[in-house]
Amino acid sequence: MTGETGLTPLHRLMADDLEQVNATIVQRMQSDVPLIPQLAGHIVAAGGKRLRPLLTLATARMCGHTGSRHIGLAASVEFIHTATLLHDDVVDESQLRRGLDTANSLWGNQASVLVGDFLFSRAFQLMVADGSLDVLRILSDASAVIAEGEVNQLLTANDTETDEGDYLDVITAKTAALFAAAARVGAVVAERPRAEEKALERFGRGLGIAFQLVDDVLDYSAEAEKLGKRVGDDFREGKITLPVVHAFARGDERERAFWRRCLEELDQREGDMAHAMELLHRHGALDAGIARAESYARDAREAISGFADGPIKDALLEALRFSTARAY
Ligand code: IPE
Ligand code: IPE
Ligand code: MG
Ligand code: MG
Repeated sequence: MTGETGLTPLHRLMADDLEQVNATIVQRMQSDVPLIPQLAGHIVAAGGKRLRPLLTLATARMCGHTGSRHIGLAASVEFIHTATLLHDDVVDESQLRRGLDTANSLWGNQASVLVGDFLFSRAFQLMVADGSLDVLRILSDASAVIAEGEVNQLLTANDTETDEGDYLDVITAKTAALFAAAARVGAVVAERPRAEEKALERFGRGLGIAFQLVDDVLDYSAEAEKLGKRVGDDFREGKITLPVVHAFARGDERERAFWRRCLEELDQREGDMAHAMELLHRHGALDAGIARAESYARDAREAISGFADGPIKDALLEALRFSTARAY
């Protein structure tokens, strides 16, 4: 044991591979249209955790892959993620991402959407260059599901009738689908049996759901400095996440009227955010979000119990712990 925690073991073990992924990203975001590398370079250089490409790299290596196909595919996965972030920040009207002003606040919505489309296309070019129809199917299916999740979220926004099942459907699609696909691709490039693909897909899905549940808790409880995003955005835009579903279901009529005014009518006044926090605490809503995340993380852990123990598996399990305990 090295005593390292969080994403550090995964980053350390995959450092050489990840360096190649980052080089591929920088190379493939180039274009003769100057605004493209400018805008894409802004969000790429801001960093991010690189969790999804790390999943592809780590699962491929854990499955015994010795070649380099996983590099381009991990870059493709990060391009899909980056494209969804550019689009998501437009839809959410977010101002801060990875500790910097968002692309939409610097270059406007139109440029962000179009460069997001460019990055999606680059992701598909990388998949085609890899040549595996299986991989193409897995990642294109995931891309379609992500888009469905974001559209579905639009429909549940500002609707306090949203229940836990609706919420879970949204986050399974918009977030967990890419985690699941990223992890599954590792088994595909290593040409492992279908059962291992399925196990890794289940691992990624559980991790992704836990990750988003915690993201939605952090939107109320984090420090913006650490998170690199503005805290309270979900409340301000009337997004219905698990903490709200939980507090709404347990609230009395007055409390429900408060949530409806703030989240459905978007009639928000000074002190409302503080009152929302008080209600979330009164009903243990943030703890409920974390508890839910832990239960999905347990399922993810179970999913890879059949893989032989080793440093990469340990690092994946540590990343799983990070997903429920993180502050950024
Ligand atoms: C942000 O994902 C979008 C969510 C699914 C919550 P990350 O928190 O992985 O973003 P980066 O890539 O590290 O910035
Ligand atoms: C995740 O949802 C967005 C995608 C999966 C595209 P959020 O809207 O919660 O993500 P953040 O908080 O903006 O990173
Ligand atoms: Mg957002
Ligand atoms: Mg969020």
